Amino acid sequence: MTRDDLFNINANIVKTLVEAVADNCPDAFIHVISNPVNSTVPIAAEVLKQKGVYDPKKLFGVTTLDVVRANTFVAEKKNLKLIDVDVPVIGGHAGITILPLLSKTKPSVRFSDEEVEQLTIRIQNAGTEVVEAKAGAGSATLSMAYAAARFVESSLRALDGDGDVYECSFVQSDLTDLPFFASRVKLGRKGIEAMIPSDLQGLSEYEEKALEALKPELKASIEKGIAFAQKQPVTA
Ligand SMILES: NC(=O)c1ccc[n+]([C@@H]2O[C@H](COP(=O)([O-])OP(=O)(O)OC[C@H]3O[C@@H](n4cnc5c(N)ncnc54)[C@H](O)[C@@H]3O)[C@@H](O)[C@H]2O)c1
Repeated sequence: MTRDDLFNINANIVKTLVEAVADNCPDAFIHVISNPVNSTVPIAAEVLKQKGVYDPKKLFGVTTLDVVRANTFVAEKKNLKLIDVDVPVIGGHAGITILPLLSKTKPSVRFSDEEVEQLTIRIQNAGTEVVEAKAGAGSATLSMAYAAARFVESSLRALDGDGDVYECSFVQSDLTDLPFFASRVKLGRKGIEAMIPSDLQGLSEYEEKALEALKPELKASIEKGIAFAQKQPVTA
């Protein structure tokens, strides 16, 4: 089952849960982890708009797991301490829409073209790798919980006034021509305090091409979510 197959099951669940959030805690940070995140976040946005409480600074698609995987695979490949490694991952949260910016890895690391290709594909397909390794016993669970806990903790630190909290997340965005896009954002007390446009500047040729290649799929997933929500108006 791909993340997109989950659309039919999860679209309605997300719609119902976000309606309840809109009615009961409209000021909350909302972290959408249910897949396909590329569609469920636009669904959540539409529901919140219909309820008149949409704050784009407080709606997040949880893509932290892609960063966790990218950091892990790069640390393994380059014999680095995991805690020191930070790879921004942009785009979306499915297949080729997941784009690790290996050229922007911290600390600065050199990769051969083959390494970039192998690592990018492994990060994009890491969910499938887990499903295959578990051989019928399910999909990623512990790593998903770890990623969710990391994102929640970052949000709590930001709410508590920490002025140095950055995470990648799939959010409403004007960094590209797509209405939603995952990128590094600065979190603050009121949600997204700043986007980081410089992350998208100075990309490698490989990353530039991959960014253009992911846009049609990501656009279609976003539009699918919006169309679903617009066809099924919220309950009053
Ligand atoms: N964003 C990510 O990085 C990431 C990673 C892994 C999995 N996921 C997604 O997380 C979701 C959960 O995955 P899982 O492996 O824990 O699935 P799961 O099937 O093990 O658990 C889903 C849980 O949701 C509950 N549930 C179903 N309908 C509900 C409703 N209407 N209201 C409240 N709860 C409801 C079920 O009872 C079940 O306990 C899936 O959508 C999966 O694709 C996201």
